[in-house]
Amino acid sequence: MTKKMTITSIKKSKGVTPLVVITAYDALFAKLLEPSSDMILVGDSLNMSFAGRSDTLSATLEQMIYHTNAVAMGAKNSFLICDMPFGTYVNPDEALKNAIKVFQETPADALKIEGGEEKADIIKHLCSNGIAVCGHIGLLPQAFRSEGGYKVKGKNEQERLQLIKDAKAVEAAGAFCMVIEGVKAEVARDVAKSVEIPVIGIGAGKDVDGQVLVFSDMLGLFEEFTPKFVKKYMDGASLVKNAIKSYADEVKTKEFPQDMHTY
Ligand code: KIV
Repeated sequence: MTKKMTITSIKKSKGVTPLVVITAYDALFAKLLEPSSDMILVGDSLNMSFAGRSDTLSATLEQMIYHTNAVAMGAKNSFLICDMPFGTYVNPDEALKNAIKVFQETPADALKIEGGEEKADIIKHLCSNGIAVCGHIGLLPQAFRSEGGYKVKGKNEQERLQLIKDAKAVEAAGAFCMVIEGVKAEVARDVAKSVEIPVIGIGAGKDVDGQVLVFSDMLGLFEEFTPKFVKKYMDGASLVKNAIKSYADEVKTKEFPQDMHTY
């Protein structure tokens, strides 16, 4: 069994070894992912991948708590980050109240908050009250409706400078690491160089301090759409559908069950 990461070992990994982060939403997959991941993220992407919604915005705190507890049952030795869903951290006091609820009702090690400079006061308030925070800058899935889609960031000098400001503000507020999503690779590289804490990329190229992927994307299980940055490590949807088809065929032809499956 590998040793569970800590805030200290996560911070120390910068410049030494890239961090492997994968999302999970249930105990079954968490157990399968645990041996190969440094941290597991219970992302609010579960609202799409698990609950079938078209964006992450309707995920609730109760759902995040439920799924974090499920993941914790499967991955008892993993550093767990729980996403704070849309609308649960609109000001420092509200954020702290909700963060305390997650910390009291789950074994999450840290919470993730979307936003840069504009969320620094909230991150600071959480960190100064014993909540470890992972930032999330660049493309913010929770801004999907307000921005009219998923917009890649870092496309001009102004955006590059803003992203560096965001990263520095998140770090200064006390976050122990941050996710950078949907950012031009050369800009993500500059952002990662501008701070001392690990910057974990998703759709942000390879010159960052680790990578995070949504497990159902990387296993080819999520068929609705495939972002450019996703590599499918298997064609999960076809494998599952073929297996179910074989079962259905064998039930129809009475090939299943055989003697070995019968009492
Ligand atoms: O919700 C999620 O899965 C995330 C990742 C995309 C980083 O925030």
